[in-house]
Amino acid sequence: MRKKIAAGNWKMNGLKADIQVVEEIAKAAKGKRVECFLALPASLLASAPKEIATAGQDCHAQPKGAYTGDISAPMLADAGAQFVILGHSERRMYHKETNEEIAAKVMAAWQSGLTAVICIGESEDEYRAGKTLEVLGQQIKGSLPPGATAQNTIIAYEPVWAIGTGLTPTNDEIEKVHAFIRDKLPNQDFSILYGGSVSPKNATEIFALGDVDGGLVGGASLNAESFSAIINALEDSL
Ligand code: PGA
Repeated sequence: MRKKIAAGNWKMNGLKADIQVVEEIAKAAKGKRVECFLALPASLLASAPKEIATAGQDCHAQPKGAYTGDISAPMLADAGAQFVILGHSERRMYHKETNEEIAAKVMAAWQSGLTAVICIGESEDEYRAGKTLEVLGQQIKGSLPPGATAQNTIIAYEPVWAIGTGLTPTNDEIEKVHAFIRDKLPNQDFSILYGGSVSPKNATEIFALGDVDGGLVGGASLNAESFSAIINALEDSL
């Protein structure tokens, strides 16, 4: 059974004072049939209320060692996280993460009992050149290790040009891409989230699309009101 998931990605945003926003989102998520979690900055994971599930935004492939500034999967689990986002386009871009490195991180996440949220997506140039499916095929092949199941892995399709821009692919494009991704996965049970400028305005429409099992939401998850509206839109789609 494919799970419906509303996930927030706070990126490098949030101070202690913002735990209040997390609490409000936890209230909105309470009693819902859809799953909700927030990928908080590592500094906030341990202080997040237990009522909402949390995620790390990256982890190292090694469990510990001399890697200044990095965080490991056992550390995220120790801080209370149940999920970890891996291979986000901002990591691929600014930290030059390769598919191979991402696959190693995914295996590290599984070893610590974390569910890996593997992000894939084409750049604007690749989109314009009509290479979307080719790029996604390579990313899936390279960053999804053997052993991936619908229990230990979630896929997030995030076109790089749609992130934080207010732009989204057409509904038709989203459906085609999600069907393509599903076809490449080991079975039909994986949850495939759409990410990239999801907002309370477009959430209902996007969540109604075939093969879309929810959203990975950046900007709109920083505000309790807008993320709650997105959670409600997903709940209403059931
Ligand atoms: P956005 O970010 O919703 O702000 O476009 C999505 C993401 O990068 O996960």
